[in-house]
Amino acid sequence: MVKLIVETEELKQDRSTRGSVGFVPTMGNLHQGHLTLLERALTENQTVYFSIFVNPKQFGPNEDFNRYPRTLENDLELISKVAERFPNTNVIVYSPKDPQEVFPKNDDQMISIHGLSTVLEGKLRPGHFDGVATVVYRLFELVKPSIAYFGLKDYQQYLVIKQMVQELVMPIKIVGMPIIREPSGLALSSRNQYLTPEQKDESLILFRTLSEIKKIIDNKRNNLELARIRIQEVLNDPNWNYLEIRDAETFSEDITQSKILTMLAVYQMGSTRLLDNMQVELQ
Ligand code: PAJ
Repeated sequence: MVKLIVETEELKQDRSTRGSVGFVPTMGNLHQGHLTLLERALTENQTVYFSIFVNPKQFGPNEDFNRYPRTLENDLELISKVAERFPNTNVIVYSPKDPQEVFPKNDDQMISIHGLSTVLEGKLRPGHFDGVATVVYRLFELVKPSIAYFGLKDYQQYLVIKQMVQELVMPIKIVGMPIIREPSGLALSSRNQYLTPEQKDESLILFRTLSEIKKIIDNKRNNLELARIRIQEVLNDPNWNYLEIRDAETFSEDITQSKILTMLAVYQMGSTRLLDNMQVELQ
């Protein structure tokens, strides 16, 4: 059964009638990446809250908050189709119409996760991860989930949320789900629809380059130097916002002791920033 709630008071009331729940936070315009999170949540919880909220606090002044696609009706259809396959479960979609439903006061306290929030994506989008941490904190307070599901597509975001939960001692398990890609390799993203067909073809450079570097490393620490040389060459193309290798767990640049690495990259395609990452294990 799928139920739509648009008011926070109703959400609080609904929540007070239920036991342990799972939670999937999103900004809507759903694709298979989001739906995989829902499917996993429904295999593990009888009740799943699914939020659809384009959070103004995580967009910079010149970013795409206004044009971010809002497609609630279609999203609800997609959610219902998934939910039909899981009888005896409840999906409660929380889609507040007005940011004031989530942030009643304008001068709300912000949550800031030190270290992680100001490097890579955080360095290029100042305040972005504070906006993400703040809305997720607020949603966690409302939904009180035992378990919450995030995509590894936004790897840095996933680490920020894990760190927040740990530092604030929130009793919530954070699950990271693999990246869902198109057959071409392009990671699914609501922002892909900003791309023209030509740009979509060109954007394969992101997946291809990450795959190429993964192949160069070939699970061997000794090959890291070769990979670094290749990355330097790649970065001659100014459309790369960044392409870096970090420890997948600590996010440290020092990878001398690392067992699992993550390569994180953003490629700028016109006005659209395409974000991706790929993991490499070292033997
Ligand atoms: P949004 O971009 O809508 O993504 C919602 C969730 O879906 C995130 O956990 C994201 O990592 C995951 N996701 C997106 N594309 C994916 C893909 N191709 N494969 C797997 N998972 C994918 O991320 C946000 O919203 C917001 O920052 C939010 C956490 C909701 C806070 O506002």
